[in-house]
Amino acid sequence: MVANILDAIEDVVRPGVPTMRFEELARDMCAQYKVKPAFLGYCGYPFALCCSVNEEVVHGFPSTRLLQEGDIVSIDMGVVYEGFVGDAARTFAVGEVSDEAKRLMRVTEDALYAGIAEAHAGNDVYAIGAAVQRMVEAAGFNVVRRFVGHGVGAKMHEKPEVPNFKPAMRGLPLQNGMVIAIEPMVTVGTYEVDILEDNWTAVTRDRKPAAHYEHSIAITHDGPRILSISDRGRPERALMVDRSNNNG
Ligand code: MF3
Ligand code: CO
Repeated sequence: MVANILDAIEDVVRPGVPTMRFEELARDMCAQYKVKPAFLGYCGYPFALCCSVNEEVVHGFPSTRLLQEGDIVSIDMGVVYEGFVGDAARTFAVGEVSDEAKRLMRVTEDALYAGIAEAHAGNDVYAIGAAVQRMVEAAGFNVVRRFVGHGVGAKMHEKPEVPNFKPAMRGLPLQNGMVIAIEPMVTVGTYEVDILEDNWTAVTRDRKPAAHYEHSIAITHDGPRILSISDRGRPERALMVDRSNNNG
C-alpha cells in the first residue's frame, strides 16, 4: 500500500504542482485502503507524509509551495495495517533535472540496494551501512549521520538502529524474521544537517541537495525480501536481491 501510494504520487509529480497535492492523494488512498497513515500525530508530526524538496533532507512538510522544473522531491510515507507499520521513501525528479541531481538520485537508490544485499541472517547489522557508505563515498557524495534506518513492526521505530555509515564498534547479528527499514539519505555536499524553525524539516547545512530512498525489508531464509515493492513493481530491482547476490 505504501509503495502504491508512492507510485500514485510519482505519477502526479510535475512542475507547478503544490506539494500538498501529495498529502491529499496519500490521505485519499489510505481512506480507500482503510488504513491509517503512520506518521500523522507521531511525536506530533502534523501530516500523513513527509515531502522534502532539494536541500531538505527528510521530514519536510507538504505545503502550498509549487514544485519547479529542476527540483527533486523526496516523499516518505508509512501506513499502519492490521497493527503493523510499512515505511518507504523515494526521490522524484520534477521535469528535467541537472545531471548532478540525476546522479545523486541514482547513487542513493543504488546504495539502498547495496545495503539490502547485506540484509541476511548472521550478518552484522552494521554491514548494511558499511555497504551504503562505501558506494555513496565512491561516487563522491556523503551519507547523513543524524538520521538512521530502524527496525519496523508493531511500532514504526524499533530496534535495531540501521545506520547508513559504518560505526566504529560491531553491531548485532541480523536474524531471520526481523523486519528493518533501510533508508539512506545522501547529500551532494556536507552530511551535516540543520533543523528548521518548524522543528521538523532537516536541511543540509550547506543547502546543497539531498536524496532519500527507503524500503521495508524482511530478513528471511531466502535472504532479504523487499516488502515495499509496488503492484506496478520494479522487477529488475526485485531480481537484484536474490541469493546469488548476497552470499556474504
Ligand atoms: N521514514 C521516516 C522514519 O523512518 C518517517 C518518520 S517521519 C515522522 O523515521 F514524522 F513520522 F516522524
Ligand atoms: Co523509516
